[in-house]
Amino acid sequence: MYDIESKQGGWFYSQTVKDHFFEPKNFVKTQEEAKEIAQASDGVGIEGSPACGDVMKMWIKVKDNKIADCKWQTFGCASAIAATSMFSVMVTESGGLLIDEALKIKPQNIVDRLDGLPARKFHCSVLADKAFREAVNDYYKKTNQFDKIDETKIKVVDKILNITDKDIEEAALHGVKTLDELQKRTKIGAQDKNCLPEAEELLRYYNEKHFSGK
Ligand code: FES
Repeated sequence: MYDIESKQGGWFYSQTVKDHFFEPKNFVKTQEEAKEIAQASDGVGIEGSPACGDVMKMWIKVKDNKIADCKWQTFGCASAIAATSMFSVMVTESGGLLIDEALKIKPQNIVDRLDGLPARKFHCSVLADKAFREAVNDYYKKTNQFDKIDETKIKVVDKILNITDKDIEEAALHGVKTLDELQKRTKIGAQDKNCLPEAEELLRYYNEKHFSGK
């Protein structure tokens, strides 16, 4: 799909990724700036990546149910910086997206706007999406709109090996497409095969969620 990874396995970034990495939009540069933004913000979200341990912090301002502003800081890599920069542009462009529209943006949409990311860096684009969801939840809490909060709970799928739906999501984000690949990566179902149908269904769901781009 993208001419990103060479046949020799080298990595190449698109010009759009480089532009957003070298000049990230809506990036909070100093702690002083972060303090001011935090005070003026309507919601804040923090998300860590289980894949690499990097962290993303995002602040939003909401006006008339639209995303009026979206600022962020991260300890993430170049791909996370470029992806979050692009995400912050997408949710605020043309006067800002309605919250519900902004929540529909998937990592694949961000990657498309960046003209691609190396497959192994796909999980870096998910940090923005997740931190944003946290920030929206925080906004709903602060404005007493509790019925709108998305409290997605972690579910243990393999109770013997303690493998959760989040582990399956991580595997999908790292390119795992089949149950066989999932078993090789996580050992899920090694001691109790009863969990495999649910695991396969979740794997299909997360691949659809993150890669369909619809
Ligand atoms: S490797 Fe951690 S965010 Fe990219």
